[in-house]
Amino acid sequence: MSTVQGRLRIAVQKSGRLADRSLDLVRDAGLRVVKGANDLLYKVENYPIDLLRVRDDDIPTFVADGVCDLGIVGENVLEEGKNGGANASVVMPLGFGKCTLKLACPPMLDYAGPASLQGLRIATSYPKILRRYLDEQGIGADIVVMRGAVEVAPRLKLASAICDLVSTGATLEANGLVAKETVFESQAVLIQSPVAPEPGLQHLLESIIERMAGVVSSQG
Ligand code: PRP
Ligand code: ZN
Ligand code: MG
Repeated sequence: MSTVQGRLRIAVQKSGRLADRSLDLVRDAGLRVVKGANDLLYKVENYPIDLLRVRDDDIPTFVADGVCDLGIVGENVLEEGKNGGANASVVMPLGFGKCTLKLACPPMLDYAGPASLQGLRIATSYPKILRRYLDEQGIGADIVVMRGAVEVAPRLKLASAICDLVSTGATLEANGLVAKETVFESQAVLIQSPVAPEPGLQHLLESIIERMAGVVSSQG
């Protein structure tokens, strides 16, 4: 008896800092990507694989739940998205999308170290990672969660400091903020689902991972 073979799914960021490089990696691994009927789905012509193009914040969940077999996402997003349930596992770091989650504040704040943040309000899109850091440092501070534009919080007097991703530093500089502490270092990683694909696709999954590893090491 034969069944119709399904397709592997790889989750990639639809737009944002990792989007282009993620697609490059997939192509360099030998997958011929063509646009599908809609923006959400790109098809691979030469293998039974689809790319699911979604918000980066959704990628860990899709992979953890087995909706996608693989995903390309920032460690920052993966770490913040962890919960009690089954998680996606990291296959390998990909060497791009490097950035650092940093505490930053206006120069007028009298900052002498993390303890200076005691009792203050800190704006961030990464409340879990920040809370863990503050707990480790023994600091009690209020966290204000913002989905974006975190860098405007001090100007609006919404918070005294921020904890946000820094890549070139241009955003901090444009907003008159000074980086103080490194909270988390991040880069893009390949993640894999704890849910195995259907048996007929297992070998393809392994070979895609091997090809991606080859691309990454050749760029080392
Ligand atoms: C991050 C961060 C800053 C910017 C910093 O946003 O929130 O806005 O990048 O980069 P820079 O140091 O090079 O100026 P990002 O676009 O990564 O993610 P987001 O859209 O999810 O905020
Ligand atoms: Zn995002
Ligand atoms: Mg941003």
